[in-house]
Amino acid sequence: MANASGLFTPIAPSVRSRFSPSIVIYRSGFWFSEGVSRRVLCSSTVQGEGKLSPSESRVPRLASKGCKLVGCGSAVPGLQISNDDLATIVDTSDEWISVRTGIRNRRVLSGKESLTGLAVEAAKKALQMAKVDPDEVDLVLMCTSTPEDLFGSAPQIPKALGCKNNPLAFDITAACSGFVLGLVSAACYIRGGGFNNVLVIGADALSRYVDWTDRGTCILFGDAAGAVVVQACDSEEDGLFSFDLHSDGEGQRHLKAIIKQNEADHALGTNGSLLGFSPRNSSYSCIQMNGKEVFRFAVRVVPQSIASALEKAGLTGSSIDWLLLHQANRRIIDAVATRLEVPSERVISNLANYGNTSAASIPLALDEAVRSGKVQSGHTIAAAGFGAGLTWGSAIVRWG
Ligand code: ACO
Repeated sequence: MANASGLFTPIAPSVRSRFSPSIVIYRSGFWFSEGVSRRVLCSSTVQGEGKLSPSESRVPRLASKGCKLVGCGSAVPGLQISNDDLATIVDTSDEWISVRTGIRNRRVLSGKESLTGLAVEAAKKALQMAKVDPDEVDLVLMCTSTPEDLFGSAPQIPKALGCKNNPLAFDITAACSGFVLGLVSAACYIRGGGFNNVLVIGADALSRYVDWTDRGTCILFGDAAGAVVVQACDSEEDGLFSFDLHSDGEGQRHLKAIIKQNEADHALGTNGSLLGFSPRNSSYSCIQMNGKEVFRFAVRVVPQSIASALEKAGLTGSSIDWLLLHQANRRIIDAVATRLEVPSERVISNLANYGNTSAASIPLALDEAVRSGKVQSGHTIAAAGFGAGLTWGSAIVRWG
């Protein structure tokens, strides 16, 4: 099991007393015929000290900056599928689905809609709210497990936004925990990498990997995209107080969409067999999930993770303004809120309308809550994601 946790404060006193860091960040660019790709080099130099050992050099390099959440946006497909619609495909009912999960509707990509298109729409709205020009974006993190290009969808976002300075863009794959990981990654890039405006996008289209004959899974998922602009600021204004992140490969058996080796391609003739291998194409299986095990996992680890992050931030469940969990199941959300003693009126949820939208669920719900005036500037939010991998984690943030 791997884990990481953090408390974002200015350089720790112990570190400060050992080194007097003079931090130098170099940025260099490689120029290509069709644009600019940026490579960031970070280097720290230590005054009055000998050469650092490799372990010593891993001290936080730059903690003089803070970061804050300054804009959000979201986008969903046009096609809505209700529980009654699903009851015409599989043996289920509106009553079963809404009682067991809290879900009533979900949105599914159709026609010419694309996940990248949703991500771009969400990003545009987030930039508008943040009053950040696309040319000022210097990093795009696309959190998705369902990219439209195996090699990653992220570079398509700044291209579509018309970002003239061609910011660095790449995908983060961590299923339903993707957005929380993206948020923490953005903070690290701002603090240690000299970045200023980071677009964190959570977008997934699990409808493409659902077995529409399996009533145990097809009722749960929907497609969507949500985005947040994370911006560098003075450390006093810092809005990401602490985090707690984990993964555990042992749990993969409970939730996966694994690679499938297709039949050997005989159309390729004898070339392959002469060389002793049969060329194959691959695809992914549909989502396979042991719902009961995933449920148990979520109600066990999510309260622990949030409690740990809250403790690092010096807060308690009763002192936060909002609890915002990955929207998977109403019963999971209620169980976690009860465990943390957060009253239901301080729990953000839009699960009923969209189902489980994987990496999109947290920014989608946040965007609705901000635009409706529920979440206001200065409010503290405990956000937590959990899902395939298995992965889970939480972040304590301030909005605005
Ligand atoms: N309609 C009607 N009956 C159903 C349906 C359905 N859609 N699905 C299952 N059933 C039946 C089962 O066949 C079973 O019948 P049986 O008792 O005759 O065998 C009965 O209902 C109970 O099934 P369970 O699977 O035990 O139902 P449970 O209460 O556990 O609810 C659910 C299933 C909703 C999937 C729940 O376990 C759950 O939400 N788990 C968490 C899933 C999750 O959060 N995933 C998040 C991660 S996603 C990601 O990372 C990509």
